[in-house]
Parts: sequence; structure tokens; C-alpha cells
Amino acid sequence: MSTKISHTISVKHIEKSRINEVDFNNLIFGNDFTDYMFECDFRNGSWGNPTIKPFGNLSISPAAKVFHYGQAVFEGMKAYKDEQGKIWLFRPEDNFNRINKSSKRLAIPEFPKEIFFEALESMLLLDKDWIKPGFGNSLYIRPFVIATESGVSASPSSEYKFMILFSPAQAYYSGDVKVVIAEHFSRSADGGVGAAKAAGNYAAQFYPTNLAKEQGFHQVIWTDSNEHKYLEEAGTMNVFFRINDTLITAPISDRILDGITRKSLIALAKRDGITVEERRITIQELIEASKNNALKEIFGTGTAAVISPVSDFSHQQVVYHLPKISNSFATIFKTKLMEIQYNKSEDTFGWRYPVE
Ligand code: COI
Repeated sequence: MSTKISHTISVKHIEKSRINEVDFNNLIFGNDFTDYMFECDFRNGSWGNPTIKPFGNLSISPAAKVFHYGQAVFEGMKAYKDEQGKIWLFRPEDNFNRINKSSKRLAIPEFPKEIFFEALESMLLLDKDWIKPGFGNSLYIRPFVIATESGVSASPSSEYKFMILFSPAQAYYSGDVKVVIAEHFSRSADGGVGAAKAAGNYAAQFYPTNLAKEQGFHQVIWTDSNEHKYLEEAGTMNVFFRINDTLITAPISDRILDGITRKSLIALAKRDGITVEERRITIQELIEASKNNALKEIFGTGTAAVISPVSDFSHQQVVYHLPKISNSFATIFKTKLMEIQYNKSEDTFGWRYPVE
């Protein structure tokens, strides 16, 4: 059956939900997808034919530019269900603005805001049973854009597909994360695409991360590409260092993703009277702080992982361990952030967005 849910978006309905095939108590991040997906095509200079349809495979030319030149960007967001069964998004305008910023950097046409929100909210209502209540349960939302024009000339595509997928999620990392500080590889460079959520940024991390895993670590802490002296990001996350009671994180630049969890954490910490420094921090400063017992915590922040504590870091083959502390900022602010996301505490910043 096919219906129109608005003046713009058509819906092709599923025949039968797959929800009973999914074990919601044992989810592996990003492995299961809901009943629906959203698709909208850019052709002849405009976005058109926005459709919500059953999740399924695409048929795309093997010569599509995305396969050859990686012209693709994505976003990561989450929907939450509160104890009353109401659905909430968290700062979705920031994700919308960021995907368009990423698109611009990759020469992809910007997507219209009205269709983005209408698609997102309509699909959330169709897939609402896939959002389980309970602290830690969420629906990971993956909007993305790919270049679909067939042709291997190295130039921007004239055709694109904007899509949204939903994947039920629990925690991203279980347990503490052990990281290696990058001494050779880089995830981004001045003037590059590090600040964009470009698909290729993540592909470029896989090989160095595999090398780190072979040594028993989980992730890489990325350093500046010029000198490998300054600490910039951790794996797919922004990174924070707590030295005594001051939180330090790299300033936003060409090389650093303007993380929504990052800026939310900064706002919460400042509100609670914690000193937050957005400044460059060197490996040397980190190691000295660790030796003086001033380094209390390292943690990554991102939509998927929320806040992920680091238990050990390695540099030049030396491993530095961070002892567990009782008043961990990672734990305190993860709870405070999630209480806002799950509608359990007052939202003084106006970050929650109701879906109805
Ligand atoms: C996110 O936190 O949304 C990310 O971008 C991580 C993703 C690569 C799994």
C-alpha cells in the first residue's frame, strides 16, 4: 500500500514488521535496521520524490561516483523514548546544519530543512515500536548522502541520494577504552575534511586502528598532522582530558569535528562551575600530568558512545594507566546528559525536541 503523509513525502508501507526477529537485549551497534528507510533523489538541479519505504537494498550503477571517489557524508543522531512513551530527539537542528556543512565541503548540494524534519519525524512515528524505553536504549539515526551519478570522471556528481536509516542501539563501547597516541598516521590536516563527517575520514582510520588493535588497544588518539605533538580526537570521538579539576579539549578547527556531545558537555560543565579550556594540549603536557598524578581522566564524546572513558594510553611503547576515581566527570556528565535526553531532568538549554 502507498500513501502520502504530507504534501511532499510518500510512504510505501511494509507488509509485516521484522521487529520480532530482533533480540533487543543483545544488540550489536549498527547491525539491525528498522522496518523503514527514507530516500530522496537529487536530479536536474533539485531534490525530489521523497519517499519512506520498507528497508531494503538499493540498485545503483557500479560506476556511481560514490564508489570511486567517496563523495559521501553522514550524520549520527539518536531518538529516545521517555517513561511516558514520548519520543525525543536531541539538538536535531545541529545535525541538520552539520550535514549540510559537510555536504558543502564535499561539493554536494545542501538538503532542504523542511523535508529533513518531516522525513525524520514521520519515519520515527512509523518505526516508534523500535525505540525501547529505558536508560541507555535508543534509536541510532543515520542520515547520509551519496553521489549516484554513473561515470568515473573525477568531478562532482550531478545526482545524489539522501537517505535516513534507523538502528536500535544500546551502549557503543562496553567497558573502558585503551588507546594509542598516533605518532605517524593522521585523521585530518589543515585545509582538509576533518571537520566534515565525510565517509572517507572514517575509512582512513581503519588501518591505523587495526594496527592499534594488534597491540591490544581499542582506538587511536589522533594528533596534529604537522608534528604529532598536539592531542586532537579519539577514534571516532572528540576527546577530553581532566587535569586536576580542569577539563581540556582541542579547539574546533579544520581538523576537529564540531561534536554535538562535545559542545553539550562543555555547556553542562561550565554551568556546573567547572573550568573548561578549549585549547591545544600536547602529549608532553599529558604525560607530565600523568606522572604527577594530576591527570584524572581521559574520555571520548560522541553520539554513538555518548561519553566513553579511557583507562590506558600508550605513547612510544610506554603505557600509562589511569586509576579509577570516585567523582569521575565522565560518569557525572554522562548521567546529566542522558537525563536531559531521556526527559528525566529539566532541559534548561532547550536541547530536547519532541516528536509528535
Ligand atoms: C557518532 O558518534 O555518531 C559517530 O560518528 C560514530 C560512528 C562512526 C559510529
